[in-house]
Amino acid sequence: MITYGKQWIDAEDIEAVSEVLKSDFLTCGPQVDAFEQEFAAPVGAKHAVAVNNATAALHLAMLVAEIGKGDRLVTSPNTFVSSANCAAFVDATPDFCDIDPETYNLCPKALAANWQADTKAVVAVAYAGQSPDMPAIAQIARSHGAVVIEDGCHGIGGGFTVDGKDYKIGGHPWADITTFSFHPVKTITTGEGGILVTDNDEYARRARLLRSHGITRVTEDFTGLGGDSATLQEQGGWYYEMQSLGYNYRITDLQCALGRSQLKKLPGFIDRRRAIVAQYNAAFADLPWLQTPQILQSENVAHISWHLYTVQIDFKALGLSRSEAMQRLREQGVGSQVLYIPVHLQPYYRNQFGYGVGKCPNAETYYEQTLSLPLFPKMTDGDVDTVIRSVNKLAP
Ligand SMILES: Cc1ncc(COP(=O)(O)O)c(C=O)c1O
Repeated sequence: MITYGKQWIDAEDIEAVSEVLKSDFLTCGPQVDAFEQEFAAPVGAKHAVAVNNATAALHLAMLVAEIGKGDRLVTSPNTFVSSANCAAFVDATPDFCDIDPETYNLCPKALAANWQADTKAVVAVAYAGQSPDMPAIAQIARSHGAVVIEDGCHGIGGGFTVDGKDYKIGGHPWADITTFSFHPVKTITTGEGGILVTDNDEYARRARLLRSHGITRVTEDFTGLGGDSATLQEQGGWYYEMQSLGYNYRITDLQCALGRSQLKKLPGFIDRRRAIVAQYNAAFADLPWLQTPQILQSENVAHISWHLYTVQIDFKALGLSRSEAMQRLREQGVGSQVLYIPVHLQPYYRNQFGYGVGKCPNAETYYEQTLSLPLFPKMTDGDVDTVIRSVNKLAP
């Protein structure tokens, strides 16, 4: 079965992880710092804080940006649930703004039109790897004093162009914090894993602290244990203070060694993804019942790292339900996936926040027609042909 996404693990990756198993540090060791630096450098971000998954990174983003009770967070409904759940983790109100019907990304016009006074954060998701209009989103959010969090989980290694200048996701002036995921279907993997990048020194310092229980071992930061703090505060390598409520969101050295090994292959992974997308786009261009992915601006085509290849299909024209079409593909050995069910329609969001059908009509229409086809670098040319042939066979 050709699944919709899959990791690439080779002998170098296995060797990198094995070396860590033979070393002194399985966690909190040198691989973590090295991975953070090697990830941040090509992105162009000042700080990177690696964590155990991107959901944790989004939670930390909320905490360091001080989003909490009484605050509203707006994101796209066309995303994985984490992009919104992070608001609920901190007792803020997750909310949704409709998508642009062409790019399937958060629509700046809808964001501006539906702005509410208590909105303190926008989570801008780079769906499938294509960034939304970040300058427009940042302009709207910042004019109201809200923080911009870029959910770059789909966009590792990707970027976009503004006024002729190229920017990397996570390395541009229109986001305060960017998060990435290293789940196996993502562009590189650490098994599970995530990272938060930011140019903000204080955000990075706080994220590091909260990643590990809010505990500090930095002497200058010690405030003592109360009472006569001069006597109750101890010195020495063994002493630590917990200064705020943190979590265990640490990532292991095993994972970071894998991440470092994967980073070396990232340019090749992206090239292969782009080549497969080009083949699909050419093969499907003339199917009247299928819409290939649309790009916000033509100069961005070269920058998208393509986590997903998602098409819109007129299932009525095919005389098939989506499930029937997926079953037909499966019979040919082709997996597919639905990404995403609009988050505001999930029972939790309907029950807790009263959201429902009609709140984000573009995302709902998009959902009815969406299908993600296999896309991962290990696909052979034969696999790509199989997908193309199987999709063509859906024709009435
Ligand atoms: C857009 C988006 N945001 C956040 C996440 C959460 O990532 P993780 O699984 O690493 O927690 C994902 C993962 O599926 C995602 O696709």
